[in-house]
Amino acid sequence: MAVKIVETSMRDGHQSLMATRMTTKDILSIIPDLDKAGFHALEVWGGATFDACLRFLDEDPWERLREIKKLAPNTKLQMLFRGQNILGYRHYPDDIVDKFVQKSIENGIDIIRIFDALNDIRNLKSAVDATKKYGGHCQIALSYTTSPVHTIEYYVNLAKEVEAMGADSLCIKDMAGILLPDDAYNLISQLKKNTKLPINLHGHATAGIMQATYIKAIEAGVDIIDTALSPLSGGTSQVATESFHYILKNTIHDPKLNIEILNEAASKLTVIKDKALKDGILNPKALTTNPSILLYQVPGGMLSNLMGQLREQNLMDDYEKVLKEVPIVRKDLGYPPLVTPISQMVGTQALMNVISSSPYKIVSKEIKEYLHGLYGKAPAKVNSLLLSKIIGKDKVIDYRPADDLQPEFENLKKKYEGFAQSDEDLLSIALFGKVAIAFLEKKYNQKPKPKQEIYAFSVTIGGETK
Ligand code: CO
Repeated sequence: MAVKIVETSMRDGHQSLMATRMTTKDILSIIPDLDKAGFHALEVWGGATFDACLRFLDEDPWERLREIKKLAPNTKLQMLFRGQNILGYRHYPDDIVDKFVQKSIENGIDIIRIFDALNDIRNLKSAVDATKKYGGHCQIALSYTTSPVHTIEYYVNLAKEVEAMGADSLCIKDMAGILLPDDAYNLISQLKKNTKLPINLHGHATAGIMQATYIKAIEAGVDIIDTALSPLSGGTSQVATESFHYILKNTIHDPKLNIEILNEAASKLTVIKDKALKDGILNPKALTTNPSILLYQVPGGMLSNLMGQLREQNLMDDYEKVLKEVPIVRKDLGYPPLVTPISQMVGTQALMNVISSSPYKIVSKEIKEYLHGLYGKAPAKVNSLLLSKIIGKDKVIDYRPADDLQPEFENLKKKYEGFAQSDEDLLSIALFGKVAIAFLEKKYNQKPKPKQEIYAFSVTIGGETK
């Protein structure tokens, strides 16, 4: 059976290696080639790409999507969607999730890959329902991690639930690149045996094992793999697309990619990459193979974040100690997978535990909220001593966190009447508050009125985390 390939350079590739700074102009110079190369889908949109457009590039992410769509009439476009967090960092009410899915599909997205950091499927439901309602392909992704509770049985049970929820396909999302070849073989074999869903494997090259892992997954019957065009592959990104063309060519798994077109696209992308290297946007360190993540099980992005925090505070000597603290914090919190936003929370907590006189003397607001159940259900039992120390007699919620949230869209519409020009503008504001407003002010050369009231409101919506 031919393996299908999802090309990720225009989302995960530059997110992993270039701090998501590829401009729309650069992306559009590559898309026509990618559209003709024979991919199953192009992953082009997600949280960091959306955020970086507004925050750093002064670009409208919705316009980017529409332009990509125009230049890719033959290939499906795919986005990454953080369940109830959409593309942001907190839980949003269902009406915002619904509207965001609707507008993503209207503007050009075909496949929505939906995941939740904790694999709490209650946090997926609203995005899944909306994707089906608006005619998109709903792919549910399970965050891959290792722990005493993250067994093959755990993933098989979740896969069955995901199938019953109505997913069109299933993705195993190995954001840290720690899925070992034999484990992949066993996991994919069991998933194929227990569900009818097409299975997509998403892994990172970080530890240097992913090509072997993909090959074993293909042997076990995986349907789709994610790769990135060579200039934005390797290191903390995906493995190279062209390599898998050569590995699979003339086998029964041949994805039938057009290598001449890929080479053309790669030479254009090399110019963009070289400029990023010269400008310091691409740190060559991100390209180095880093097998030590297999020891600490820390995703590449989290490692570089931690290094940044430590360097800023002149604490690089504590690097090893902090890395060793990460698995301890993770265990205390019930083994959450280390993916945004949990990875940042765990990293920061590990750092605070190391630098303060006793563990959990300082605890972030986010960790407190996590312990209250406001991110969803922890995969395993949380350390009960920690729980009573931090939240005392407070109630841990046992329902879906977004059940507490009131609809927001109509309020936003009223508040920003005359300023927001479209539902898309309102959704940008709903997710990125002040950052989106500052962008739209520049775009339309006008300020929202009455300014005072609106800023107060945007602070609330940007800052509150339920
Ligand atoms: Co990834």
